[in-house]
Amino acid sequence: MYTFTDAEIQEIQKHVAKYPDRNSAIMPALWIAQEKFGWLSAEAMKLVADTLDVAYARVYGVATFYTMYFKKEVPKHLFEVCTCFTCGECGGKETMKFLREYLETDEKGFSKDGLFWVREAECLGACDTAPVAQITNSRYVHNLNESKVRLTIDKLRSGVELEYEQIPLTNQNAI
Ligand code: FES
Repeated sequence: MYTFTDAEIQEIQKHVAKYPDRNSAIMPALWIAQEKFGWLSAEAMKLVADTLDVAYARVYGVATFYTMYFKKEVPKHLFEVCTCFTCGECGGKETMKFLREYLETDEKGFSKDGLFWVREAECLGACDTAPVAQITNSRYVHNLNESKVRLTIDKLRSGVELEYEQIPLTNQNAI
């Protein structure tokens, strides 16, 4: 049975109140649903539509447009490794290969232990610290190498929250 708690409904209503059109609250409401259920099934999307009192088709359209919304049941942790221009040249592709081998992923990128999945990302906007990965729509890991990949996986496995990395400014004199 798919339901939101009173606190979750209140949170969604706060988003509704920010906009003149309730459809504008679809994205944050989907986010709340994904955080709760792990992915967005048809039932979860219907719950979002009913809670917001908007058309299911609208909710479905938004959810299926963005890759950050998961439309299938997926492992808990997602590693999105940038293999675009700069990262691709600075080791992103090798990192991706290492990650796949280390986690023993299948052809869909799902790890053998069922905890991780891996996929390539387009530019994540942090080219100056290439190669970069984003973890489950949240933290970035910069200047990736094999030991950093291992460390990140160990932290995630043991439930340690990833911290924001302090990136030294290399270009401080630039205007
Ligand atoms: S190319 Fe990887 S963050 Fe820009």
